[in-house]
Amino acid sequence: MKKIIITGMIIASGMALLFSCNKGSEDVLKASTTCDTTAVSFSTQIVPILQNNCYRCHGSGNTGSGAGILLEGYSNVKTWVDNNYLVNVVKGSSGYILMPFGGPKMSDCNVNTIAAWVNQGAKNN
Ligand code: HEC
Repeated sequence: MKKIIITGMIIASGMALLFSCNKGSEDVLKASTTCDTTAVSFSTQIVPILQNNCYRCHGSGNTGSGAGILLEGYSNVKTWVDNNYLVNVVKGSSGYILMPFGGPKMSDCNVNTIAAWVNQGAKNN
């Protein structure tokens, strides 16, 4: 009886280990295959990030307090690129207020995509 319990425990912990390893490698694979920052598009990559993380406070129909800052539409976003705020607020650089306001910080992929788009000239593409 004792033997069966011990064997069961070994099998269970082995399986737990197996699953956790699998999950880990999947995450790495996902991160390296789905975060493509080589030629970032404003309309298909930047707008969805802003829509999901910023519009509720900085969109035209905002419901949160966005301090009157509008990040909807290319020219409005470009204003905050040109004064260096956009990249610094999403990175939470020292001296800047981290956005989304109140956190948490967005995923590395979102932050890197915005930084890459700015580095590539913040095109209206
Ligand atoms: C929950 C509401 C909320 C969300 C979501 C939010 N913001 Fe803000 N944002 C604010 C408020 C409030 C301020 C003004 C903060 C202050 O001056 O104290 C602000 C200020 C800013 C500023 C100006 C910072 C400064 O120092 O003047 C920028 C740029 C900005 N937000 C960009 C963003 C971006 C980009 C996102 C999405 C990644 C975002 N915000 C998400 C509420 C929000």
